[in-house]
Formats: sequence, structure tokens, C-alpha cells
Amino acid sequence: MLMAITADTAVEILRAAGEPTRLRVLALLAREELSVLELCRILGQSQPRVSRHLKLLAEAGLVERFPDGAWVFYRLAGSGAGRQLVDAALALIDPLDPELKRDAEQLAAVDAERAADAQAYFARNAAAWGEIRKLYVAEDQVEAAILAAALGRMGGDEKIGRFVDLGAGTGRMLTLLGPRADRALGLDLSHQMLNIARAQVGEAGVEAELRHGDIFATRLPDAFADLVSVHQVLHYLSDPAAAVAEAARLVAPGGLLLIVDFAPHRLEQLREAHQHRRLGFSGEEIARWITAAGLTLETDATLPAASADGLSVRIWGARRAALSQRNAA
Ligand SMILES: C[S@@+](CC[C@H](N)C(=O)[O-])C[C@H]1O[C@@H](n2cnc3c(N)ncnc32)[C@H](O)[C@@H]1O
Repeated sequence: MLMAITADTAVEILRAAGEPTRLRVLALLAREELSVLELCRILGQSQPRVSRHLKLLAEAGLVERFPDGAWVFYRLAGSGAGRQLVDAALALIDPLDPELKRDAEQLAAVDAERAADAQAYFARNAAAWGEIRKLYVAEDQVEAAILAAALGRMGGDEKIGRFVDLGAGTGRMLTLLGPRADRALGLDLSHQMLNIARAQVGEAGVEAELRHGDIFATRLPDAFADLVSVHQVLHYLSDPAAAVAEAARLVAPGGLLLIVDFAPHRLEQLREAHQHRRLGFSGEEIARWITAAGLTLETDATLPAASADGLSVRIWGARRAALSQRNAA
């Protein structure tokens, strides 16, 4: 529903959006959240200039700013009159407009470059991944909490049904949860990771299928799985919100989405050394994506870092309403 605003407010919003670079910024942020540096690269403009435009857009309530370690990211405002006006304006613009099309291509190139760097990192480190994973987290505690979140309501020997692990890496989640599933499937973009996962899952005597696949476009049907997990994957991705939406799409009625990632932290070196794009996620951010995907947050557990240079891990469990609940509502 359109909310009424004063004419003065409308002028202020339209002024903020009514400038070529700022409109380009809005069109880009409508695609995904971006850091200032990424915006500078795509727009081909200096940081002071881009920052000035972003400040104006933020003051008019059209974009939101969120710091991530030493970086600052921007996204479109979640709601409000400004957001409605931006959505309406962008919907009117020809998608083939040459400048916006060029920006979208530049954005795709920046995303592809980042994905290629991350994949090269995983290809180099596939064999050592089991050890790298342990560097910053108390793995036993995290895994116990994952089991509790995934099986809490089931208890006993009940089966999970269909289980899909997105960004399966070397197959740790499949080894942990696969034995409880009727069918377990792991998807990953890295062939090197998949090769190791096949060997490790086999060694553990777990029956699981491993497929090459992209978390942004899994090509699996809606409501495919009773449990979907995304374990330590989101912080590498160009568009974590889109990955959560795709993961949630796969969750069957009554099923669970399990997201495990770092709480916000300040280990900047992880960007350079380990290809992290985001330094953790706030509860508010993940909750927003979960709710937008039509799921209800069921578990939100934080496991404190095991050492001074370790990281806190957060586990979110979100459920899709069972059909009976939906019919009753
Ligand atoms: C940090 S590893 C985590 C692996 C595993 N979930 C674990 O916790 O051990 C991240 C994994 O995500 C995979 N990945 C990154 N981008 C992906 C994408 N777009 N689609 C599928 N997998 C992706 C990487 O290849 C890598 O194996």
C-alpha cells in the first residue's frame, strides 16, 4: 500500500534520486548490496565522489549504510516512501538503457572476478580445508549445536528425510547429518572440493550424492528438501541475500533451513588471506533475509570464540510452516 508523504518530502526524495550517478547507484543496489569500493569500480568514479552521492542518498532515506569491519556496504532502504519511489522509478526504466546495462555488466564482471578468486582459493586449499576450518572455531561445540538445531524437534532416531548441503566443501555437514537423512545431496562450485568430499563421505560410510552446482541457481525444485544447510559459505558470496532466498526456496513445508556463519568480527586479514567478502553477519540481517523468504526463525545460537584470536559462530535455524499450519492460518 502506498503511504502518504508531504510534497516537500517527495521533492527531497526525488532530488536525491534525480541525478544520473545516483540513479545508477540505486539501480545497482537494487541488484545486490555493494561496498563503496565495488561501487567505485563499477561506476568508474573516485571514492570521494561516490561517497558524496551515497551520503545524499542515505540522508534522503533511499539507501542504508552498514559497516563491515573496515569496509562499508550499502543497500536499498528496506521500506518507506523513498524505497517505494525508487522501486517505481526503476521499474519504469528500459532494462536495455545503455548506461544501466553497462553498469549491470560491470557488476557481473566484478562478481565473477571475486567468485573466480574465491574458487582459485578453494582449489588451492581443498586438501587443507579440514584444518583451515578448525583455525578460528571450536568445531566440536559448533557441530553439537548444529545437531541440536537440526534434530532438536525430532530427537530419538527419527530421520531427517531429504537433506541438501549447499557449498558442501569437503563434505563435513554431509558426514555429520547425512547418516540421519533418507537422502543426502551436497552441491559445490569447486571440483577440487567435490573430489575430496566424495572420498571423505565414502570413508565415513555415508551415502551422499555430490554434484557440481551453484548456490545462486541450484536447479533443484521448490520444496525439495526437509533440511537445507549453508555452513560457512555466505561470507564468501557476492550476494548472500540471494543465496539465502535460493536455499529457502528448497525448504519443504515443515522443513528447516540451517545457516551457520560468523558473528560480526574485525579480522580484516581474512579478506586478503582467505577470500572472505563479509566479516560475519548480524542477527538482524540474517533474520531479515529469513523472513523475506517466508520462513520463521526457530533457533538463534551464538557460540563464543574458543580463543582470543578465534571467532564467534552463529547458528540460525528457520522453519517453513507445515501445510496444516498454513491451512489453519
Ligand atoms: C568455506 S567452504 C565451506 C565448506 C563446508 N560447508 C564446510 O563448512 O566445511 C565454502 C564452500 O563454498 C563453496 N562455494 C563458494 N561459492 C559457491 C557457490 N556460488 N555455489 C556453491 N558453492 C560455492 C566453495 O567452493 C567452498 O567449498
